[in-house]
Amino acid sequence: MRILGIETSCDDTGVAVFDSTCGLLAHRLASQIAVHAPFGGIVPELAARDHIRVLLPLVKTVLNEAGCGASRVDGVAYTSGPGLSGALLVGAAVGRSLAWAWKVPATAIHHMEAHLLSPMLEDRSPSFPFLALLVSGGHTLLADVRGVGRYTVLGESVDDAVGEAFDKTAQLLGLGFPGGPAIAHAALQGNPKRFRFPRPMTDRPGLDFSFSGLKTFAVNTAKQHVLDANNVADIAAAFQEAAVDTLLIKSRRALAATSLKRLVVAGGVGANQRLRERLQELSSERDVEAFFPRHEFCTDNGAMVAYAGWQRLQKGGNQALAFTVRPRWSLAELTPP
Ligand code: KG4
Ligand code: ZN
Repeated sequence: MRILGIETSCDDTGVAVFDSTCGLLAHRLASQIAVHAPFGGIVPELAARDHIRVLLPLVKTVLNEAGCGASRVDGVAYTSGPGLSGALLVGAAVGRSLAWAWKVPATAIHHMEAHLLSPMLEDRSPSFPFLALLVSGGHTLLADVRGVGRYTVLGESVDDAVGEAFDKTAQLLGLGFPGGPAIAHAALQGNPKRFRFPRPMTDRPGLDFSFSGLKTFAVNTAKQHVLDANNVADIAAAFQEAAVDTLLIKSRRALAATSLKRLVVAGGVGANQRLRERLQELSSERDVEAFFPRHEFCTDNGAMVAYAGWQRLQKGGNQALAFTVRPRWSLAELTPP
């Protein structure tokens, strides 16, 4: 079965073709960083307009690269939430229309489910059950994953997502957009021990997260220092260490509570090198296998949507022609295909 996947939930247009026998045949990403960078964050209306501009040409390119004309696509998968409504509508309208024109089934995909299954695109792929740490610009959560559509959310952020905290702290430090890679880069030159950031909500039981306090601590620290390269590097390093440490403490707790023996990390912040190192240490400490998608599949992409689409369409997940998008949509609402 050959699936076209379309991702337009935020500021990346991702398109891919996944084949259930041959694997990933082609995938491409059109990033909107240049569109949003002058504003220091994502402007929803500009995101939607840019998806409209690039999506169809990107679909054509990816189909050519995959060596398949439309007649060889067996199904279409598009992200229908959570995300920015205008941006989601572009992918949903195009995906649904292409499926109608090609007379093939289509399915709406939950963006976080696609992230969560993304490590399965790799040769070394996790089997169920596993603990998933999903860390992106919009979400931070730990889930007990028993199968496709069988997710129990164990804990999530009560305020900012961890990626959002990276982005806001980077902006404050004048490091630009997107903030995650910029903080990670600046932190390489910094001393993580000079400032002691809090590890929010780790002093009480439970698996929820809070990251707005880290951002506030960064604001206060920045106010007390000249923002030269040294101080910026030290604040970035201390912030990153605190964010990563907090994720580690909760992941360790969740592994102990569930006795799960596999840990999957996904979402944009999963590309963070320091987080990956610390999770590797945790996996040795607890004798747990750790799985990470390659960097380009941590951040938003079409491949994960095509893969999740295959998982659902192979079980007959075709949906009605009338489509909708769900800007807010809990992972816990999903059911097996
Ligand atoms: O999954 P993603 O591409 O989009 C959402 O679904 O939100 O995640 C984007 C987030 C941004 O907040 C970005 O700053 C963060 O992932 N990010 C990183 C790194 N690369 C991307 N955060 C920390 N370190 C990185 N290397
Ligand atoms: Zn994402």
